Amino acid sequence: MTPEPKTAVGINPVVVVTGANRGVGYGICLRFLRQLCLPAPPDAFLKSDGGAPKELPNSHWLTRVGKVTIVMACRDIDAGSRAREKLVKQFEADVVRHARARSKMGRDGMPEVDVVVRELNLGIASSVFEFLGWLRQTYPHVSHLVCNAAVAPFIGVDNTRVMAQYRNNFAKAFIAPDYLIQRTGETSQDGLGLVWQCNFFGHYMLFRGMHELFSAFAQTSGRQARVVWMSTLASMPEDYSSDDWQLLRTRQPYEGSKYQMQLVRNHFSSGDLDQFEDSRSETTQKTASHSTSEPFHLLVQPGVVATKLDPLNSSGAAAAVRSATLFLCRLFGSTNHTTDPYKGAISAVHAMLVDIPPVLSSAGDTASMYPSLKSNVKLSSKSALMRREYVAVAECSEEWSRSEMEKASGLVEHCDELYQTLLQSFSR
Ligand SMILES: NC(=O)c1ccc[n+]([C@@H]2O[C@H](COP(=O)([O-])OP(=O)(O)OC[C@H]3O[C@@H](n4cnc5c(N)ncnc54)[C@H](OP(=O)(O)O)[C@@H]3O)[C@@H](O)[C@H]2O)c1
Repeated sequence: MTPEPKTAVGINPVVVVTGANRGVGYGICLRFLRQLCLPAPPDAFLKSDGGAPKELPNSHWLTRVGKVTIVMACRDIDAGSRAREKLVKQFEADVVRHARARSKMGRDGMPEVDVVVRELNLGIASSVFEFLGWLRQTYPHVSHLVCNAAVAPFIGVDNTRVMAQYRNNFAKAFIAPDYLIQRTGETSQDGLGLVWQCNFFGHYMLFRGMHELFSAFAQTSGRQARVVWMSTLASMPEDYSSDDWQLLRTRQPYEGSKYQMQLVRNHFSSGDLDQFEDSRSETTQKTASHSTSEPFHLLVQPGVVATKLDPLNSSGAAAAVRSATLFLCRLFGSTNHTTDPYKGAISAVHAMLVDIPPVLSSAGDTASMYPSLKSNVKLSSKSALMRREYVAVAECSEEWSRSEMEKASGLVEHCDELYQTLLQSFSR
């Protein structure tokens, strides 16, 4: 049994979701809020076959909080405000719909909910620092950072590669296409790799800049804050080479930025649970630096979802063809084509809610009891046709080897140095 945290009632989570105005980001906000309407948040519990767990526990820390704040961090503030309005309406309808279920379980009360929109452009360092400054002035702590926003710089299709991939790996061509041509070498107004900054480094800056807010949350609640990194099925180690850490030369900056999330996630979490489970490598032991004041990192991916991420097929006839293709994939048994952003959001919301033992070092807390929390796993959103969506825990295909660990620590060093340089010039 997981011991109860010291002050469950006083937790009052403050949740930051980037790219929350549409797509999966919006789905995450809605899905997270819907969990509050139910007696116990179903997404907190793993369901391997898509069905609801037979018995939901009567209690979860989320059901005992007094207030929940969701910060929708959006590049376009008008789009963010429209999204907020829609979100609040949908949530209010859910509250009414689920009132009976809650009262049956003897839980009438709902936490107070505050949904806030704030401008954030991850591709501009000063915007990230301004956002962090506002966050520190406004909230005493942050409980969750969901690194969701991204750009996909797809500009065309390489027909030769299409043929090769469909011939060599037909199934993979539908979930992780390697034939998309991407814009490369683009820099931001800060002079950094643009895709790298928007997808990965902007989030890394947020994570570093929230250190004190995470730590304040741990102190008041006795629980670790969480950083949820939104990856993809398609990211592979070969998409990232250490000598191109800003992803300016790679053919696939999008996948590279997603693989970097995986590296960083593993770097900061390696050993959290594994150190108690086994003693696989000396380095795992050395990097194991668990402390509740540090956030817990989780890696998720939403499956293939019909959103506006891919500019090649986000509108008109191309979007209709894509929707039809996604449906056909589901019809032929794919569980990776979650299609709907709300379904795609389940892995992120699971990562936000799954119980993390308050003190990982306590005897009996093993990786087998907490599969979602192991390092080098990706939590994947899955959905079969006519079934409820669910979360699968998959070991990342590549081993967390010494070379990947070195790649990760090199990347963290580069990012920390750059973060400090940018911070100093911003503070001047
Ligand atoms: N869709 C899929 O099939 C799929 C598959 C695997 C992984 N994912 C991942 O899921 C996440 C969400 O993608 P999605 O499909 O929901 O895409 P989406 O509909 O295009 O949403 C992307 C969001 O990111 C925001 N954004 C982009 N650049 C930004 C910046 N510089 N600063 C702040 N916000 C920025 C966008 O804001 P604007 O509205 O202002 O552009 C938008 O809100 C991404 O991390 C993506 O890599 C998606």
